[in-house]
Amino acid sequence: MSGLNLLFPFLSLFVIFTPSFTLVAGLSGCGPHHIQALVQFKNEFDSSGCNQTDYFNGVMCDNITGEVTKLQLPSGCFTGVLKTNSSLFGFNHLRYLNLSYNKFTSSSLSSGFGSLNKLEVLSLSSNGFIGQVPSSLSNLSRLTELYLDHNELTGGFPLVQNITSLSILNLSLNHFSGAIPSSLLTMPFLSYLNLDENHLTDPVEVRSSSTSSRLETLHLRKNPFEGKILDLISNFTTLKYLGLSFQNISYPINLKFFSSLKSLLRLDLSGNSVLETSISSDSDVPRNIEKLLLSSCDISKFPNFVRSLDKLEHIDISNNKIKGKVPDWLWNLPHLIRANLVNNAFTHLEGSNDVLTNSSLRILDLALNHFEGPVPTPPLSINLFSAWNNSFTGNIPLSVCNRSSLVILDLSYNNLSGPIPRCLSNLKDSLVVVNLRKNNLEGSIPDMLYNGSLLRTLDVGYNQLTGKLPRSLLNCSSLRFVSVDNNKIKDTFPFWLKALPGLQVLTLRSNKFYGPISLPGEVPLAFPKLRILEISDNNFTGSLPPNYFVNWKASSLETNDDGRIYMGDYNNAYYIYEDTMDLQYKGLFMEQGKVLTSYATIDFSGNRFEGQIPKSIGLLKALIALNLSNNGFTGHIPLSLENVTELESLDLSGNKLSGSIPKGLARLSFLAYISVAHNQLIGEIPQGPQFSGQAETSFEGNAGLCGLPLQGSCFALWSSSPRKLLCPPTDTTV
Ligand SMILES: *[C@@H]1O[C@H](CO)[C@@H](O)[C@H](O)[C@H]1NC(C)=O
Ligand SMILES: *[C@@H]1O[C@H](CO)[C@@H](O)[C@H](O)[C@H]1NC(C)=O
Ligand SMILES: *[C@@H]1O[C@H](CO)[C@@H](O)[C@H](O)[C@H]1NC(C)=O
Ligand SMILES: *[C@@H]1O[C@H](CO)[C@@H](O)[C@H](O)[C@H]1NC(C)=O
Ligand SMILES: *[C@@H]1O[C@H](CO)[C@@H](O)[C@H](O)[C@H]1NC(C)=O
Ligand SMILES: *[C@@H]1O[C@H](CO)[C@@H](O)[C@H](O)[C@H]1NC(C)=O
Ligand SMILES: *[C@@H]1O[C@H](CO)[C@@H](O)[C@H](O)[C@H]1NC(C)=O
Ligand SMILES: *[C@@H]1O[C@H](CO)[C@@H](O)[C@H](O)[C@H]1NC(C)=O
Ligand SMILES: *[C@@H]1O[C@H](CO)[C@@H](O)[C@H](O)[C@H]1NC(C)=O
Ligand SMILES: *[C@@H]1O[C@H](CO)[C@@H](O)[C@H](O)[C@H]1NC(C)=O
Ligand SMILES: *[C@@H]1O[C@H](CO)[C@@H](O)[C@H](O)[C@H]1NC(C)=O
Ligand SMILES: *[C@@H]1O[C@H](CO)[C@@H](O)[C@H](O)[C@H]1NC(C)=O
Repeated sequence: MSGLNLLFPFLSLFVIFTPSFTLVAGLSGCGPHHIQALVQFKNEFDSSGCNQTDYFNGVMCDNITGEVTKLQLPSGCFTGVLKTNSSLFGFNHLRYLNLSYNKFTSSSLSSGFGSLNKLEVLSLSSNGFIGQVPSSLSNLSRLTELYLDHNELTGGFPLVQNITSLSILNLSLNHFSGAIPSSLLTMPFLSYLNLDENHLTDPVEVRSSSTSSRLETLHLRKNPFEGKILDLISNFTTLKYLGLSFQNISYPINLKFFSSLKSLLRLDLSGNSVLETSISSDSDVPRNIEKLLLSSCDISKFPNFVRSLDKLEHIDISNNKIKGKVPDWLWNLPHLIRANLVNNAFTHLEGSNDVLTNSSLRILDLALNHFEGPVPTPPLSINLFSAWNNSFTGNIPLSVCNRSSLVILDLSYNNLSGPIPRCLSNLKDSLVVVNLRKNNLEGSIPDMLYNGSLLRTLDVGYNQLTGKLPRSLLNCSSLRFVSVDNNKIKDTFPFWLKALPGLQVLTLRSNKFYGPISLPGEVPLAFPKLRILEISDNNFTGSLPPNYFVNWKASSLETNDDGRIYMGDYNNAYYIYEDTMDLQYKGLFMEQGKVLTSYATIDFSGNRFEGQIPKSIGLLKALIALNLSNNGFTGHIPLSLENVTELESLDLSGNKLSGSIPKGLARLSFLAYISVAHNQLIGEIPQGPQFSGQAETSFEGNAGLCGLPLQGSCFALWSSSPRKLLCPPTDTTV
């Protein structure tokens, strides 16, 4: 293969000069003019994102005729418009064509595809194709798999019913509209049909047809079907996977529609209203269901029919209105692995507090209910135990400590009391997230973190915790998020935390921390990844050297397509945990905001800092909020702040700052909130929309400031008395 890598960069030249070129491994069997055509096809696009080797590795030729029979582009390879006269349409011996995950943005589907009539597999997924599907596609009579999903295709349902050999048809995530043809559902070989997220409506006529259908998978999520489709579906007795979430059916769905689907393994009815009487009894729903999703189904009673589903592995009944007890038989379903009960009105688990212990559950989410009493003993095999936002009382059960597969423990927003169990240290090889925020926990944070601990998130904010921060935190090299805010912790600044390579968020807000945050003569603090440092409302003192921020790396932004990446998300195939925190900026308070990786904030407010604001603050390019209010900072506002170009919120109020407001701050185009009230500032407020749009109160309490938004202008006074800048009184209270 090493020879191959060398050859390809020169391939196009090579082909021209050596027409009998056949040495290339991936292309063995390809005729010379076919190789030339492949190069020509590549040259129709910007392929700079392409691994050339991969491109040619995706080619297969008939080793007798030399014709190209297979073309599989690597994803992200080609960018550009796929033209009607593309050389692609000359490869009319292709049996397999996969162009998915490229960027043929704004190309329409050429009718030329209809001429590739030997195709058996055609995949054009995720490419940005627009317009209608050409009718010539129905010429592809040998097609068995057709993927057009995730494009911007429009028009009526593509004419594919005549392609009787089709077994897989994926049209999901497009803009197809109009009625689906009922004949579609009787295509003899069709086994997979995905129409998710289009604008398709019910078939016009539901012909009675005893189908000999092979349909196993049917996805119809988010289409405005009004119900007729259900009559059809009930005849597809071969169905195994049925996704019907978020339809526009005006009446509650009766589960008896599905009683004939004896092979059904997965049923998703989320986002539809489901007929209450059909779930409360042992209705005749298929017994083999493994996955049942009934989220947001307007249900107010526990679905008792579930009791007979002894193959059930995953149930989701979140976002309903179910009150009272969770029946104990649920936990005895022998294969149950995941249960999502989030956002109902449950108050109790039926049975003893041990009722979960022997369950096979691995993921249990009880969040956002009204559960009372002690936290139940978690199942032995539990990986994720979430019960946040309930009214659980009592201690954190010690049984948690011998659940050796526990990865996420979230008991935040309850009324738990007593200590944080020291024995959590038993779980150093499994625990990734511990969230105990907003309870009444007492005592100190135990030394529960030992070398090699996997812990990434520790949130014990809003409790009654005392003592010092455990030095064992230092062993925990995976830590990214530490929040101990709003407790009674009395300690000095944790300089030692700088040894944590991945620490991104540290909040010590509203505790009894004291002393300096900078040690004289020491190298400035280096938190390589720290982006959010909230130490407000403590008793920190001292001054900060000018180079205080030089070693901070909060200087670059990370964003994805929609401009945001949330940090702290713990993702696996089953669950997403996202770190949240109370965000306080722009003068607003947002509880449980998701933490974006793309921003940095610093809040030192409400301490007893003195001296000048470090000029190195200008290095923190990604800073969006800076709050130094209510301290004893003196000197001028650093000019370097004009370099903090992402800044949205700046609060310097309640200090002893003097001099004028740097003119450069008027160029901070995202600045939405500024306060410099109650300082000793003088001169003209920089003029620009960011400043003039602020409330007057943002500037009050500075005897020497003038200009908008304060009343009166400096100019009038300036011109009448050019040598001395006089300002009108800023304090409008008389
Ligand atoms: C291209 O892909 C081949 C294998 O598919 C790999 O060996 C090679 O390193 C890749 N080249 C580049 C530049 O990524
Ligand atoms: C053609 O290729 C196939 C598979 O790569 C191989 O089994 C067959 O022997 C080849 N035929 C000739 C004539 O080279
Ligand atoms: C098409 O190619 C993509 C990768 O580019 C791959 O993920 C997908 O499975 C392929 N589809 C088919 C039908 O082979
Ligand atoms: C396709 O047509 C365009 C003009 O519309 C022309 O510039 C281009 O060379 C043609 N491409 C091929 C592969 O024939
Ligand atoms: C479709 O096939 C027919 C006959 O097989 C042929 O005459 C016609 O040109 C084809 N249409 C397209 C658009 O390729
Ligand atoms: C169908 O398309 C959707 C959306 O692109 C995708 O998630 C799904 O995996 C596809 N199914 C198959 C069988 O390719
Ligand atoms: C489908 O086949 C029927 C009969 O076999 C024919 O009348 C109809 O024109 C065909 N439709 C398309 C779009 O090819
Ligand atoms: C369902 O199939 C039965 C017989 O198999 C048939 O009598 C009935 O009309 C069919 N219903 C629909 C809507 O096709
Ligand atoms: C949903 O159905 C109602 C009638 O039941 C209709 O007025 C409305 O337009 C439909 N919504 C969509 C998105 O199709
Ligand atoms: C769990 O199983 C064990 C062993 O089978 C049994 O002794 C215990 O009583 C069970 N606990 C509960 C709460 O059912
Ligand atoms: C802050 O620390 C000083 C001593 O440095 C102490 O006198 C004062 O009481 C502390 N204030 C608070 C609110 O703890
Ligand atoms: C702003 O940044 C630039 C480039 O990093 C630097 O040259 C300039 O001195 C900085 N401005 C201030 C006022 O610090």
